[in-house]
Amino acid sequence: MNMEFIESPIKYVGGKYKLLNQIIPLFPEDINRFVDLFCGSGVVGANMMGRAKEVICIDKDVNIIQLLYHIAKYKAFFLEQVERVIANYGLSNSYRFGLDKYKQVTGYGGAGKALSAYNKEAYKVVRKDFNFHNATSLFYVLNLYGYTGAGRYNSRSKHNISVGNSDLNIKVVKRYRKYCEYINKSKSPASYVAVISGNITYTMMILFMQTLHTYKQQQATIITGQKKTLSRYLLNY
Ligand SMILES: C[S@@+](CC[C@H](N)C(=O)[O-])C[C@H]1O[C@@H](n2cnc3c(N)ncnc32)[C@H](O)[C@@H]1O
Repeated sequence: MNMEFIESPIKYVGGKYKLLNQIIPLFPEDINRFVDLFCGSGVVGANMMGRAKEVICIDKDVNIIQLLYHIAKYKAFFLEQVERVIANYGLSNSYRFGLDKYKQVTGYGGAGKALSAYNKEAYKVVRKDFNFHNATSLFYVLNLYGYTGAGRYNSRSKHNISVGNSDLNIKVVKRYRKYCEYINKSKSPASYVAVISGNITYTMMILFMQTLHTYKQQQATIITGQKKTLSRYLLNY
């Protein structure tokens, strides 16, 4: 099947973008509510937006959920904020300034080596600050500049991914803008939900889907996965 898919603006190991041509055709054409459970980069849910009347993205990683929500809600403004963060911390920005500047400063001829050497110390400061106050813009910077993208924390729930060999570049910006345009055009509202402090079970998911009809659109909601709290949360709707 020849279908075109939208990429997630979030770098994510285990992201399903490359498998969408196998995944998406498996779903029926006429769907009321599509739940992207364990959504990660949100790429599956995003690509169901034109197809399902409503999409709900769920993950236990509250930072991912906040990030998906911020991108969907604030679009270009969020990227501007991220660029300000990049400038304030003194990280590279090859989208604005090209790569040669960083190659010259570090003495490395290869783009990857130059970027990781250039960003190494500033990246550590971003990570330290993120682990202190969990700002979403810092999380996105860690995602773009970190080694493996999102979703890895140590046993104390601290972000511990080391610096990678990438930065804000033209490809990232184009992907981000394309995603935002797509979300703008999409008629299906999306909601982003983080289930924290526990794991969701299938029974809870069925309850979740059955009781969610009046779910408020376009919001990031943080709920706990403990059965009692989740049920109480659901029954309020
Ligand atoms: C492999 S990733 C999903 C990839 C995603 N489909 C994509 O294309 O980007 C798995 C995700 O499941 C989430 N996850 C794992 N266990 C979970 C649970 N019990 N409840 C909610 N989310 C969970 C993780 O935080 C992670 O983001």
